[in-house]
Amino acid sequence: MALKVALLGCGVVGSQVIRLMHEQADDLAARVGTPLEVAGVAVRRLGRRRDTDIDPALLTTDAEALVTRDDVDIVIEVIGGIEPARSLILAAMNSGKSVVSANKALLAEDGATIHAAARANNADLYYEAAVAGAIPLIRPLRESLAGDHVHRVLGIVNGTTNYILDKMDSSGASFSDALEEAQVLGYAEADPTADVEGFDAAAKAAILAGIAFHSRVTAADVHREGITEITAADVASAKAMGYVIKLLAICSRSDDGRSFGVRVHPAMIPRTHPLAGVREAYNAVFVEARSAGQLMFYGAGAGGAPTASAVLGDLVAVARNRLAGTQGPEESTYADLGAHPMGET
Ligand code: HSE
Repeated sequence: MALKVALLGCGVVGSQVIRLMHEQADDLAARVGTPLEVAGVAVRRLGRRRDTDIDPALLTTDAEALVTRDDVDIVIEVIGGIEPARSLILAAMNSGKSVVSANKALLAEDGATIHAAARANNADLYYEAAVAGAIPLIRPLRESLAGDHVHRVLGIVNGTTNYILDKMDSSGASFSDALEEAQVLGYAEADPTADVEGFDAAAKAAILAGIAFHSRVTAADVHREGITEITAADVASAKAMGYVIKLLAICSRSDDGRSFGVRVHPAMIPRTHPLAGVREAYNAVFVEARSAGQLMFYGAGAGGAPTASAVLGDLVAVARNRLAGTQGPEESTYADLGAHPMGET
């Protein structure tokens, strides 16, 4: 019997999820052990042109009815933002569905409510796509490194600002010219505030710190400074001294594990450091753990297909869990173990 999947949102990521589910249907069925079938796609407007072919009969504007439908097993949320995403995820969990989400803003602002609902309903909640697109970070932190003591997560988690800073560094462009180029190429939104003011990176840093340090961290706990004040002269003088300016997310924890700091700000990095070589819109994250030592994750941090890859990985995981009657690692994560964001460490 097929597992039925409801998709909330059919934009840049959602349309790629549909395309990949269709193109890779046989592979996905083989990996899960049963076919995955799209039960419906909730969209804001029915008539819009979309990047992928979808049976129009699957489209609906009634997302609430879709996520609570008896025949739906799994809900994928790729609409972003706080509402209606939060209400729909909660309704899905309360109706016994497993949830895959790519929603960094929601998880960083009100992850506590979402995680509490997952625990209360024994619902699977996977969200690899919420941080750094295709790069596996959530699962390594909450599963592979669950037996270690992570004390630092540091890296470049926003592709748009990395593109802008890289352009300023390589061509001497001003911030506004580099931003305009990022917008033309489709990296930056028409309103680029979330990227250039560091809100996007702060949300991602909050999610990573919460998992890495087994604690509750919201975007408001993150010290944040964007890149709008960086001038071509700043970039040129950093270059003359052998440095490159990058927007870093830095999560660090004290040795006793009881306090940590989470911050996002521009930083000068020696040109010999591996993060200095992260060009264009790529992301890279270092994780430092007591026994594992230093690990580096690098790749495409944004974009429809890379982000859809992370969504599909989660989809396979929740589908397998559902068939086996088991759950992912939700129970062991996001418990408040006593560490708090009490300043820098
Ligand atoms: N605006 C984000 C970025 C997209 O530039 O990294 C992925 O979260």
